Amino acid sequence: MEDFISHSVEETEEFAEEFSKSLNGTEIIAMYGDLGAGKTSFTRGLAKGLDVEDNVTSPTFAIVNEYTGSVPLYHFDMYRIESWNDLYSIGFFDYIGNGVIVIEWSENIEGALDDDVIKVFIEKTDNENERIIRIEGV
Ligand SMILES: Nc1ncnc2c1ncn2[C@@H]1O[C@H](COP(=O)(O)OP(=O)(O)O)[C@@H](O)[C@H]1O
Ligand SMILES: [Mg+2]
Repeated sequence: MEDFISHSVEETEEFAEEFSKSLNGTEIIAMYGDLGAGKTSFTRGLAKGLDVEDNVTSPTFAIVNEYTGSVPLYHFDMYRIESWNDLYSIGFFDYIGNGVIVIEWSENIEGALDDDVIKVFIEKTDNENERIIRIEGV
């Protein structure tokens, strides 16, 4: 897929909302990008596209937030996950196949992800409100 240039948080959310329409409901979406890149914003748009009515917030402290939409949405934050043991103890593998899984800080669990996951890279640019979004594996 071609890079998408977003010029605002709204554009990022709309892009993710549109992207969500292509999902079948069991995908793993691994997101990559610095703090403030827009990973949570992207997830918010995705959730909207999946008809989630709850407000999507960062799962940093909870590690996983679960939402009900047209399909279940599991929003993970792997910032504090450091090992396979950690992944097992949060029950990560039990979620696979039961809904759409969206992961922030996928960098931390790279070795645990299959080659066929969808990857979303979000990069900041020199312009404060601009982001380059690249989706691989669709
Ligand atoms: N084009 C853009 N897309 C997404 N977020 C943007 C954009 N421009 C500015 N922002 C701001 O960047 C921040 C992104 O925050 P967030 O989505 O929580 O990032 P992350 O989850 O990657 O840390 C928000 O404050 C948002 O308003
Ligand atoms: Mg976030």
